[in-house]
Amino acid sequence: MKIQINEPSLPKSGALLIGVIPDRKLLATGEQIDKLAQGALSRALQAGRFTGQKGQMIEVLAPAGTGLSRVLLYGLGKPEEIDPLTLENCGGDAVKRVLLSGEKDLAIACDPVPGGKVSLADAAARIAFGAKLGSYRFDKYRTKLKPDQQPSLVNVNVLVKGAPAARKLHQPLEKLADGIFFARDLVTEPANVIYPESLAKECKKLEKLGVRVEILGEKAMEKLGMNTLLMVGKGSVRESQLVVMQYHGAPKSSQPVIFAGKGVCFDTGGISIKPAGGMEEMKWDMGGAAAVIGAMHALAGRQAKVNAIGIVGLVENMPSGEAQRPGDVVKSMSGQTVEVINTDAEGRLVLADVIWYAHTKFKPRFIVDLATLTGAIIISLGAEYAGLFASDDKLADQLFAAGKAEGEKVWRLPLDDAYDKMLESHIADMANVTAERGAGSITAAQFIKRFTNNVPWAHLDIAGTAWTKKDKPTIPKGGVGWGVRLLNRLVADNFEGK
Ligand code: BES
Ligand code: MN
Ligand code: ZN
Repeated sequence: MKIQINEPSLPKSGALLIGVIPDRKLLATGEQIDKLAQGALSRALQAGRFTGQKGQMIEVLAPAGTGLSRVLLYGLGKPEEIDPLTLENCGGDAVKRVLLSGEKDLAIACDPVPGGKVSLADAAARIAFGAKLGSYRFDKYRTKLKPDQQPSLVNVNVLVKGAPAARKLHQPLEKLADGIFFARDLVTEPANVIYPESLAKECKKLEKLGVRVEILGEKAMEKLGMNTLLMVGKGSVRESQLVVMQYHGAPKSSQPVIFAGKGVCFDTGGISIKPAGGMEEMKWDMGGAAAVIGAMHALAGRQAKVNAIGIVGLVENMPSGEAQRPGDVVKSMSGQTVEVINTDAEGRLVLADVIWYAHTKFKPRFIVDLATLTGAIIISLGAEYAGLFASDDKLADQLFAAGKAEGEKVWRLPLDDAYDKMLESHIADMANVTAERGAGSITAAQFIKRFTNNVPWAHLDIAGTAWTKKDKPTIPKGGVGWGVRLLNRLVADNFEGK
Protein backbone atom coordinates (compact mmCIF):
# COMPACT_ATOMS: atom_id res chain seq x y z
CA MET A 1 0.00 0.00 0.00
CA LYS A 2 1.35 3.35 -1.03
CA ILE A 3 0.64 6.57 0.85
CA GLN A 4 0.94 9.97 -0.73
CA ILE A 5 0.21 13.55 0.26
CA ASN A 6 -0.99 15.82 -2.55
CA GLU A 7 -2.68 19.14 -3.24
CA PRO A 8 -6.47 18.89 -3.15
CA SER A 9 -8.39 17.96 -6.27
CA LEU A 10 -11.74 16.24 -6.14
CA PRO A 11 -11.35 12.53 -6.91
CA LYS A 12 -13.74 11.21 -9.56
CA SER A 13 -13.66 7.56 -8.53
CA GLY A 14 -12.71 5.29 -5.65
CA ALA A 15 -13.35 6.00 -1.97
CA LEU A 16 -13.18 9.39 -0.32
CA LEU A 17 -13.12 10.22 3.36
CA ILE A 18 -14.36 13.58 4.54
CA GLY A 19 -14.35 15.01 8.02
CA VAL A 20 -17.44 15.92 10.01
CA ILE A 21 -17.57 17.91 13.24
CA PRO A 22 -20.48 18.12 15.68
CA ASP A 23 -23.25 18.77 15.17
CA ARG A 24 -23.42 17.09 11.71
CA LYS A 25 -21.25 19.76 10.10
CA LEU A 26 -19.40 18.86 6.89
CA LEU A 27 -15.96 20.34 6.25
CA ALA A 28 -15.13 22.07 2.94
CA THR A 29 -14.62 19.03 0.71
CA GLY A 30 -17.78 17.50 2.15
CA GLU A 31 -19.76 20.59 1.17
CA GLN A 32 -18.44 20.34 -2.38
CA ILE A 33 -19.32 16.66 -2.71
CA ASP A 34 -22.72 17.28 -1.16
CA LYS A 35 -23.46 19.83 -3.87
CA LEU A 36 -22.39 17.49 -6.64
CA ALA A 37 -24.50 14.75 -5.10
CA GLN A 38 -27.47 17.07 -4.73
CA GLY A 39 -27.63 16.82 -0.97
CA ALA A 40 -27.04 13.08 -0.62
CA LEU A 41 -24.56 13.63 2.21
CA SER A 42 -26.75 16.06 4.14
CA ARG A 43 -29.59 13.59 3.88
CA ALA A 44 -27.32 10.77 5.09
CA LEU A 45 -26.29 12.96 8.02
CA GLN A 46 -29.91 13.37 9.04
CA ALA A 47 -30.78 9.72 8.64
CA GLY A 48 -29.16 8.33 11.76
CA ARG A 49 -27.36 9.00 15.02
CA PHE A 50 -24.06 9.97 13.41
CA THR A 51 -23.30 13.51 14.57
CA GLY A 52 -19.55 13.81 14.02
CA GLN A 53 -18.40 12.69 17.48
CA LYS A 54 -14.78 11.59 17.67
CA GLY A 55 -14.27 8.23 15.96
CA GLN A 56 -17.78 7.82 14.52
CA MET A 57 -17.95 6.72 10.90
CA ILE A 58 -20.68 6.10 8.33
CA GLU A 59 -20.44 5.14 4.72
CA VAL A 60 -22.45 6.44 1.79
CA LEU A 61 -22.22 4.08 -1.17
CA ALA A 62 -21.98 5.37 -4.74
CA PRO A 63 -23.62 8.79 -4.33
CA ALA A 64 -24.98 9.89 -7.70
CA GLY A 65 -23.24 12.76 -9.47
CA THR A 66 -19.81 12.17 -7.90
CA GLY A 67 -18.37 9.11 -9.64
CA LEU A 68 -17.16 7.94 -6.22
CA SER A 69 -17.85 4.37 -5.18
CA ARG A 70 -18.10 5.36 -1.52
CA VAL A 71 -17.87 8.36 0.74
CA LEU A 72 -16.80 7.84 4.33
CA LEU A 73 -18.06 10.44 6.76
CA TYR A 74 -15.67 10.56 9.70
CA GLY A 75 -16.37 12.19 13.03
CA LEU A 76 -13.49 14.31 14.28
CA GLY A 77 -15.20 15.49 17.45
CA LYS A 78 -15.07 18.99 18.90
CA PRO A 79 -12.56 21.11 16.93
CA GLU A 80 -10.67 22.32 20.00
CA GLU A 81 -10.21 18.70 21.13
CA ILE A 82 -8.76 17.40 17.87
CA ASP A 83 -5.19 16.32 18.60
CA PRO A 84 -2.57 14.50 16.52
CA LEU A 85 -3.71 11.11 17.88
CA THR A 86 -7.31 11.80 16.77
CA LEU A 87 -6.01 12.40 13.26
CA GLU A 88 -3.87 9.26 13.31
CA ASN A 89 -6.95 7.32 14.34
CA CYS A 90 -8.85 8.89 11.44
CA GLY A 91 -6.24 7.61 8.98
CA GLY A 92 -6.18 4.18 10.64
CA ASP A 93 -9.95 3.82 10.82
CA ALA A 94 -10.30 4.87 7.17
CA VAL A 95 -7.79 2.36 5.90
CA LYS A 96 -9.24 -0.43 7.97
CA ARG A 97 -12.72 0.25 6.67
CA VAL A 98 -11.74 -0.05 3.02
CA LEU A 99 -8.69 -2.34 3.17
CA LEU A 100 -10.61 -5.47 2.19
CA SER A 101 -13.59 -3.77 0.55
CA GLY A 102 -12.53 -4.25 -3.05
CA GLU A 103 -11.57 -0.58 -3.23
CA LYS A 104 -8.16 0.19 -4.71
CA ASP A 105 -7.96 3.92 -4.11
CA LEU A 106 -8.72 5.90 -1.01
CA ALA A 107 -8.50 9.67 -0.85
CA ILE A 108 -8.65 11.42 2.50
CA ALA A 109 -9.62 15.07 2.49
CA CYS A 110 -7.66 17.03 5.08
CA ASP A 111 -9.62 20.25 5.33
CA PRO A 112 -9.12 23.16 7.70
CA VAL A 113 -11.25 22.84 10.83
CA PRO A 114 -12.53 26.16 12.16
CA GLY A 115 -11.36 26.37 15.78
CA GLY A 116 -8.93 23.48 15.40
CA LYS A 117 -5.47 23.65 16.99
CA VAL A 118 -3.40 21.26 14.86
CA SER A 119 -1.78 22.87 11.82
CA LEU A 120 -3.03 21.68 8.46
CA ALA A 121 0.37 20.27 7.50
CA ASP A 122 0.70 18.37 10.76
CA ALA A 123 -2.86 17.11 10.44
CA ALA A 124 -2.18 15.66 6.99
CA ALA A 125 1.09 14.08 8.14
CA ARG A 126 -0.65 12.46 11.10
CA ILE A 127 -3.50 11.14 8.95
CA ALA A 128 -0.98 9.59 6.57
CA PHE A 129 1.00 8.12 9.48
CA GLY A 130 -2.16 6.66 11.02
CA ALA A 131 -3.19 5.18 7.69
CA LYS A 132 0.13 3.39 7.47
CA LEU A 133 0.00 2.10 11.05
CA GLY A 134 -3.56 0.84 10.61
CA SER A 135 -2.66 -1.07 7.46
CA TYR A 136 -0.31 -3.43 9.31
CA ARG A 137 -0.92 -7.12 8.64
CA PHE A 138 1.00 -10.28 9.39
CA ASP A 139 -0.13 -12.75 6.72
CA LYS A 140 3.09 -14.56 5.89
CA TYR A 141 1.95 -17.88 7.33
CA ARG A 142 -1.52 -17.86 5.77
CA THR A 143 -1.46 -20.00 2.66
CA LYS A 144 -5.20 -20.19 2.14
CA LEU A 145 -6.34 -16.59 1.92
CA LYS A 146 -8.89 -16.27 -0.85
CA PRO A 147 -8.62 -13.23 -3.13
CA ASP A 148 -11.47 -11.51 -1.32
CA GLN A 149 -9.71 -12.00 2.02
CA GLN A 150 -6.65 -10.14 0.83
CA PRO A 151 -6.19 -6.38 0.94
CA SER A 152 -7.50 -4.60 -2.14
CA LEU A 153 -6.35 -1.12 -1.20
CA VAL A 154 -3.31 0.04 -3.17
CA ASN A 155 -3.22 3.84 -2.94
CA VAL A 156 -3.96 6.22 -0.12
CA ASN A 157 -3.90 9.87 -1.07
CA VAL A 158 -4.13 12.53 1.61
CA LEU A 159 -5.39 15.75 0.06
CA VAL A 160 -4.22 18.96 1.69
CA LYS A 161 -3.43 22.54 0.78
CA GLY A 162 0.31 23.09 1.13
CA ALA A 163 1.22 19.45 0.51
CA PRO A 164 5.02 20.02 0.48
CA ALA A 165 5.00 21.21 4.09
CA ALA A 166 2.94 18.19 5.10
CA ARG A 167 5.25 15.83 3.23
CA LYS A 168 8.19 17.25 5.13
CA LEU A 169 6.53 16.54 8.47
CA HIS A 170 5.53 13.11 7.25
CA GLN A 171 9.07 12.03 6.37
CA PRO A 172 10.31 11.23 9.89
CA LEU A 173 6.96 9.63 10.70
CA GLU A 174 7.44 7.22 7.80
CA LYS A 175 10.76 6.21 9.33
CA LEU A 176 9.08 5.83 12.68
CA ALA A 177 6.46 3.57 11.11
CA ASP A 178 9.24 1.44 9.63
CA GLY A 179 10.68 0.95 13.12
CA ILE A 180 7.26 0.12 14.56
CA PHE A 181 6.52 -2.44 11.82
CA PHE A 182 9.93 -4.01 12.31
CA ALA A 183 9.18 -4.40 16.01
CA ARG A 184 5.65 -5.72 15.37
CA ASP A 185 6.97 -8.39 13.04
CA LEU A 186 9.55 -9.53 15.58
CA VAL A 187 7.00 -9.70 18.37
CA THR A 188 4.50 -11.61 16.27
CA GLU A 189 6.90 -14.19 14.84
CA PRO A 190 6.74 -17.53 16.66
CA ALA A 191 9.63 -18.76 18.79
CA ASN A 192 10.66 -21.46 16.32
CA VAL A 193 11.47 -18.66 13.89
CA ILE A 194 12.67 -15.88 16.19
CA TYR A 195 15.14 -17.31 18.73
CA PRO A 196 18.29 -15.64 20.08
CA GLU A 197 20.51 -16.22 17.06
CA SER A 198 17.88 -15.42 14.44
CA LEU A 199 16.83 -12.32 16.37
CA ALA A 200 20.47 -11.21 16.50
CA LYS A 201 20.56 -11.67 12.75
CA GLU A 202 17.53 -9.41 12.41
CA CYS A 203 19.44 -6.75 14.35
CA LYS A 204 22.19 -6.98 11.75
CA LYS A 205 19.72 -5.57 9.24
CA LEU A 206 20.10 -2.22 10.98
CA GLU A 207 23.62 -1.97 9.60
CA LYS A 208 22.24 -0.72 6.31
CA LEU A 209 20.83 2.25 8.23
CA GLY A 210 24.27 3.10 9.57
CA VAL A 211 23.97 1.30 12.91
CA ARG A 212 27.01 -0.56 14.22
CA VAL A 213 25.84 -3.99 15.32
CA GLU A 214 27.97 -6.21 17.51
CA ILE A 215 26.92 -9.70 18.58
CA LEU A 216 28.35 -11.45 21.62
CA GLY A 217 27.82 -15.20 21.90
CA GLU A 218 28.04 -17.41 24.99
CA LYS A 219 31.85 -17.63 24.96
CA ALA A 220 32.24 -13.86 24.99
CA MET A 221 29.62 -13.48 27.70
CA GLU A 222 31.28 -16.16 29.83
CA LYS A 223 34.50 -14.18 29.67
CA LEU A 224 32.64 -11.13 30.88
CA GLY A 225 31.07 -13.11 33.70
CA MET A 226 27.48 -12.58 32.54
CA ASN A 227 26.27 -15.61 34.45
CA THR A 228 22.80 -14.51 35.48
CA LEU A 229 21.95 -14.04 31.80
CA LEU A 230 23.72 -17.21 30.69
CA MET A 231 22.08 -19.40 33.34
CA VAL A 232 18.62 -18.38 32.10
CA GLY A 233 19.56 -19.71 28.66
CA LYS A 234 21.30 -22.78 30.01
CA GLY A 235 18.35 -25.14 29.55
CA SER A 236 17.92 -24.18 25.90
CA VAL A 237 19.59 -25.71 22.85
CA ARG A 238 19.63 -22.20 21.40
CA GLU A 239 22.73 -20.13 22.08
CA SER A 240 22.16 -16.96 24.09
CA GLN A 241 23.19 -13.68 22.50
CA LEU A 242 23.92 -10.13 23.51
CA VAL A 243 23.44 -7.57 20.76
CA VAL A 244 24.88 -4.06 20.98
CA MET A 245 23.56 -1.56 18.43
CA GLN A 246 25.33 1.79 18.21
CA TYR A 247 23.98 4.73 16.33
CA HIS A 248 26.02 7.94 16.16
CA GLY A 249 24.03 10.95 14.97
CA ALA A 250 25.72 13.53 17.21
CA PRO A 251 29.33 14.60 17.83
CA LYS A 252 31.53 12.11 19.71
CA SER A 253 31.53 14.42 22.72
CA SER A 254 27.78 13.97 23.17
CA GLN A 255 27.14 11.32 25.85
CA PRO A 256 25.04 8.42 24.56
CA VAL A 257 21.62 7.39 25.78
CA ILE A 258 21.15 3.67 26.32
CA PHE A 259 18.05 1.59 25.73
CA ALA A 260 18.16 -1.94 27.12
CA GLY A 261 15.67 -4.67 26.30
CA LYS A 262 14.57 -8.01 27.74
CA GLY A 263 14.72 -10.46 24.89
CA VAL A 264 13.36 -13.74 26.21
CA CYS A 265 12.45 -15.33 22.89
CA PHE A 266 10.35 -17.89 24.69
CA ASP A 267 9.57 -18.10 28.39
CA THR A 268 8.39 -21.53 29.52
CA GLY A 269 9.23 -20.51 33.07
CA GLY A 270 12.11 -23.01 33.05
CA ILE A 271 12.06 -25.64 35.83
CA SER A 272 9.51 -23.41 37.62
CA ILE A 273 7.40 -24.21 34.58
CA LYS A 274 4.31 -22.23 33.62
CA PRO A 275 0.89 -23.83 33.17
CA ALA A 276 -0.03 -24.80 29.59
CA GLY A 277 -2.94 -22.36 29.21
CA GLY A 278 -1.75 -19.25 27.43
CA MET A 279 1.89 -20.27 27.39
CA GLU A 280 2.02 -19.58 23.65
CA GLU A 281 1.88 -15.90 24.56
CA MET A 282 5.39 -16.18 25.90
CA LYS A 283 6.72 -15.91 22.36
CA TRP A 284 6.36 -12.17 22.84
CA ASP A 285 8.46 -12.12 25.98
CA MET A 286 11.05 -10.39 23.80
CA GLY A 287 8.78 -7.34 23.39
CA GLY A 288 11.24 -5.14 25.30
CA ALA A 289 14.06 -6.11 22.96
CA ALA A 290 11.80 -5.55 19.96
CA ALA A 291 11.01 -2.03 21.19
CA VAL A 292 14.70 -1.24 21.54
CA ILE A 293 15.50 -2.64 18.10
CA GLY A 294 12.55 -0.81 16.55
CA ALA A 295 13.53 2.45 18.23
CA MET A 296 17.10 2.15 16.97
CA HIS A 297 15.63 1.46 13.53
CA ALA A 298 13.52 4.62 13.72
CA LEU A 299 16.28 6.87 15.11
CA ALA A 300 18.79 5.76 12.50
CA GLY A 301 16.15 5.81 9.76
CA ARG A 302 15.34 9.45 10.37
CA GLN A 303 18.95 10.32 11.19
CA ALA A 304 18.22 11.69 14.61
CA LYS A 305 20.86 14.01 16.03
CA VAL A 306 21.70 11.84 19.00
CA ASN A 307 24.11 9.13 20.06
CA ALA A 308 22.01 6.14 21.02
CA ILE A 309 22.97 2.62 22.02
CA GLY A 310 20.53 -0.26 22.09
CA ILE A 311 21.49 -3.39 24.01
CA VAL A 312 19.35 -6.50 24.07
CA GLY A 313 19.87 -9.73 26.02
CA LEU A 314 18.51 -12.62 24.00
CA VAL A 315 17.79 -15.97 25.61
CA GLU A 316 15.28 -18.79 25.66
CA ASN A 317 14.03 -19.93 29.07
CA MET A 318 13.57 -23.71 28.84
CA PRO A 319 13.48 -26.62 31.27
CA SER A 320 15.99 -29.42 30.65
CA GLY A 321 18.60 -31.54 32.40
CA GLU A 322 20.98 -28.64 32.08
CA ALA A 323 18.60 -25.90 33.14
CA GLN A 324 19.20 -23.90 36.30
CA ARG A 325 17.27 -25.14 39.33
CA PRO A 326 15.31 -23.25 41.94
CA GLY A 327 17.75 -22.56 44.75
CA ASP A 328 20.84 -22.29 42.53
CA VAL A 329 23.16 -19.43 43.38
CA VAL A 330 24.62 -17.52 40.46
CA LYS A 331 27.24 -14.77 40.35
CA SER A 332 26.27 -11.85 38.11
CA MET A 333 28.69 -9.78 36.06
CA SER A 334 28.54 -7.15 38.82
CA GLY A 335 29.96 -9.66 41.29
CA GLN A 336 26.73 -9.75 43.29
CA THR A 337 25.31 -13.22 43.90
CA VAL A 338 21.69 -14.18 43.31
CA GLU A 339 19.74 -17.08 44.74
CA VAL A 340 17.37 -18.12 41.96
CA ILE A 341 14.28 -19.02 43.95
CA ASN A 342 12.03 -19.06 40.91
CA THR A 343 13.41 -19.73 37.42
CA ASP A 344 10.34 -18.00 35.96
CA ALA A 345 11.56 -14.66 37.28
CA GLU A 346 14.16 -14.73 34.51
CA GLY A 347 13.78 -11.32 32.86
CA ARG A 348 15.41 -9.50 35.78
CA LEU A 349 18.32 -11.98 35.68
CA VAL A 350 18.90 -11.16 32.02
CA LEU A 351 18.62 -7.41 32.60
CA ALA A 352 20.95 -7.51 35.61
CA ASP A 353 23.86 -8.43 33.36
CA VAL A 354 22.72 -6.36 30.37
CA ILE A 355 22.48 -3.21 32.47
CA TRP A 356 25.74 -3.82 34.28
CA TYR A 357 27.44 -4.36 30.92
CA ALA A 358 25.81 -1.20 29.57
CA HIS A 359 27.09 1.27 32.14
CA THR A 360 30.51 -0.28 32.62
CA LYS A 361 31.22 -0.42 28.89
CA PHE A 362 29.74 2.98 27.98
CA LYS A 363 29.37 6.19 29.97
CA PRO A 364 25.68 6.77 29.29
CA ARG A 365 23.60 9.81 30.09
CA PHE A 366 20.95 7.39 31.30
CA ILE A 367 19.61 3.89 30.78
CA VAL A 368 15.99 3.10 30.01
CA ASP A 369 15.10 -0.58 30.04
CA LEU A 370 11.95 -2.13 28.63
CA ALA A 371 10.74 -5.57 29.66
CA THR A 372 7.67 -7.75 29.68
CA LEU A 373 8.68 -8.34 33.26
CA THR A 374 5.74 -9.19 35.49
CA GLY A 375 2.20 -10.49 35.33
CA ALA A 376 1.61 -8.27 38.36
CA ILE A 377 1.82 -5.09 36.25
CA ILE A 378 -1.18 -6.37 34.28
CA ILE A 379 -3.07 -6.66 37.56
CA SER A 380 -2.07 -3.07 38.44
CA LEU A 381 -2.51 -1.24 35.15
CA GLY A 382 -4.16 -3.60 32.67
CA ALA A 383 -3.41 -2.90 29.04
CA GLU A 384 -3.73 0.90 29.13
CA TYR A 385 -0.55 2.05 30.83
CA ALA A 386 2.90 0.54 31.16
CA GLY A 387 4.55 0.62 34.58
CA LEU A 388 7.29 3.20 35.02
CA PHE A 389 9.96 3.01 37.70
CA ALA A 390 12.79 5.50 37.87
CA SER A 391 15.74 6.54 39.97
CA ASP A 392 15.67 9.92 38.25
CA ASP A 393 12.67 12.25 38.49
CA LYS A 394 13.49 14.28 35.41
CA LEU A 395 13.81 11.20 33.24
CA ALA A 396 10.53 9.93 34.68
CA ASP A 397 8.79 13.19 33.80
CA GLN A 398 10.23 13.15 30.30
CA LEU A 399 8.98 9.60 29.76
CA PHE A 400 5.56 10.51 31.11
CA ALA A 401 5.25 13.42 28.70
CA ALA A 402 6.55 11.42 25.74
CA GLY A 403 4.10 8.63 26.48
CA LYS A 404 1.17 11.00 26.65
CA ALA A 405 2.07 12.61 23.32
CA GLU A 406 2.47 9.28 21.54
CA GLY A 407 -0.41 7.33 23.07
CA GLU A 408 2.03 5.00 24.82
CA LYS A 409 1.14 6.00 28.31
CA VAL A 410 3.18 5.23 31.40
CA TRP A 411 2.34 5.48 35.08
CA ARG A 412 4.99 5.81 37.72
CA LEU A 413 5.12 3.40 40.65
CA PRO A 414 7.31 3.83 43.70
CA LEU A 415 10.74 2.53 44.52
CA ASP A 416 11.69 2.34 48.20
CA ASP A 417 14.31 0.72 50.41
CA ALA A 418 11.49 -1.08 52.18
CA TYR A 419 10.70 -2.91 48.92
CA ASP A 420 14.36 -3.54 48.29
CA LYS A 421 14.61 -5.36 51.62
CA MET A 422 12.01 -7.84 50.42
CA LEU A 423 14.65 -9.41 48.18
CA GLU A 424 16.75 -10.76 51.04
CA SER A 425 18.23 -14.25 50.64
CA HIS A 426 19.40 -16.69 53.29
CA ILE A 427 22.65 -17.55 51.56
CA ALA A 428 23.30 -15.04 48.76
CA ASP A 429 23.35 -11.26 48.27
CA MET A 430 19.75 -11.36 47.11
CA ALA A 431 16.96 -13.63 45.94
CA ASN A 432 15.41 -13.13 42.51
CA VAL A 433 11.90 -13.00 43.96
CA THR A 434 10.31 -11.89 47.19
CA ALA A 435 8.73 -14.40 49.54
CA GLU A 436 5.88 -11.98 50.19
CA ARG A 437 2.68 -11.83 48.21
CA GLY A 438 2.45 -8.17 47.24
CA ALA A 439 4.35 -5.62 45.15
CA GLY A 440 5.53 -8.08 42.49
CA SER A 441 6.29 -5.44 39.86
CA ILE A 442 8.01 -3.12 42.31
CA THR A 443 10.28 -5.77 43.80
CA ALA A 444 11.22 -6.79 40.25
CA ALA A 445 12.20 -3.18 39.56
CA GLN A 446 14.12 -3.03 42.85
CA PHE A 447 16.05 -6.09 41.76
CA ILE A 448 17.11 -4.42 38.52
CA LYS A 449 17.99 -1.21 40.35
CA ARG A 450 20.70 -3.09 42.25
CA PHE A 451 22.59 -3.37 38.97
CA THR A 452 22.31 0.25 37.82
CA ASN A 453 25.12 1.57 40.03
CA ASN A 454 23.48 5.00 40.41
CA VAL A 455 23.38 5.75 36.69
CA PRO A 456 20.13 7.66 35.98
CA TRP A 457 17.75 4.86 35.12
CA ALA A 458 14.16 4.14 34.26
CA HIS A 459 12.44 0.80 33.85
CA LEU A 460 9.28 0.21 31.87
CA ASP A 461 7.30 -2.94 32.63
CA ILE A 462 5.42 -3.55 29.38
CA ALA A 463 3.90 -6.97 30.09
CA GLY A 464 0.42 -5.44 29.72
CA THR A 465 1.05 -3.34 26.64
CA ALA A 466 3.37 -5.29 24.32
CA TRP A 467 0.49 -7.28 22.83
CA THR A 468 -3.08 -6.15 22.25
CA LYS A 469 -6.08 -8.43 22.21
CA LYS A 470 -8.25 -5.57 20.94
CA ASP A 471 -8.10 -4.15 17.46
CA LYS A 472 -7.36 -0.41 17.62
CA PRO A 473 -7.43 2.16 14.81
CA THR A 474 -3.66 2.29 14.42
CA ILE A 475 -2.78 -0.99 16.17
CA PRO A 476 -4.24 -4.15 14.71
CA LYS A 477 -4.73 -7.00 17.19
CA GLY A 478 -1.36 -8.57 18.03
CA GLY A 479 2.15 -7.22 18.48
CA VAL A 480 2.04 -3.49 19.23
CA GLY A 481 5.67 -2.53 18.82
CA TRP A 482 5.01 -0.73 22.09
CA GLY A 483 7.85 1.57 23.13
CA VAL A 484 9.21 2.48 19.71
CA ARG A 485 7.15 5.65 19.59
CA LEU A 486 7.86 6.46 23.21
CA LEU A 487 11.64 6.17 22.92
CA ASN A 488 11.71 8.04 19.64
CA ARG A 489 9.73 10.90 21.18
CA LEU A 490 11.83 10.89 24.35
CA VAL A 491 14.88 11.49 22.16
CA ALA A 492 13.21 13.97 19.79
CA ASP A 493 11.85 16.18 22.57
CA ASN A 494 14.80 16.13 24.96
CA PHE A 495 18.08 14.85 23.61
CA GLU A 496 18.58 15.88 20.02
CA GLY A 497 21.35 18.32 19.30
CA LYS A 498 22.30 18.33 23.00
N1 BES B 1 7.44 -13.01 31.10
C1 BES B 1 6.85 -13.12 32.37
C2 BES B 1 5.88 -11.96 32.67
C3 BES B 1 4.66 -11.87 31.80
C4 BES B 1 3.46 -12.40 32.21
C5 BES B 1 4.71 -11.21 30.60
C6 BES B 1 2.34 -12.29 31.41
C7 BES B 1 3.60 -11.09 29.81
C8 BES B 1 2.40 -11.63 30.21
C9 BES B 1 7.92 -13.12 33.45
O1 BES B 1 9.12 -13.71 33.07
C10 BES B 1 7.39 -13.95 34.57
O2 BES B 1 7.20 -15.11 34.39
N2 BES B 1 7.15 -13.30 35.71
C11 BES B 1 6.64 -13.95 36.84
C12 BES B 1 7.43 -13.49 38.03
C13 BES B 1 7.16 -14.29 39.28
C14 BES B 1 7.72 -15.68 39.13
C15 BES B 1 7.81 -13.57 40.44
C16 BES B 1 5.18 -13.56 36.98
O3 BES B 1 4.83 -12.43 36.70
O4 BES B 1 4.39 -14.43 37.34
MN1 MN C 1 9.13 -15.80 33.38
ZN1 ZN D 1 9.56 -13.68 31.08
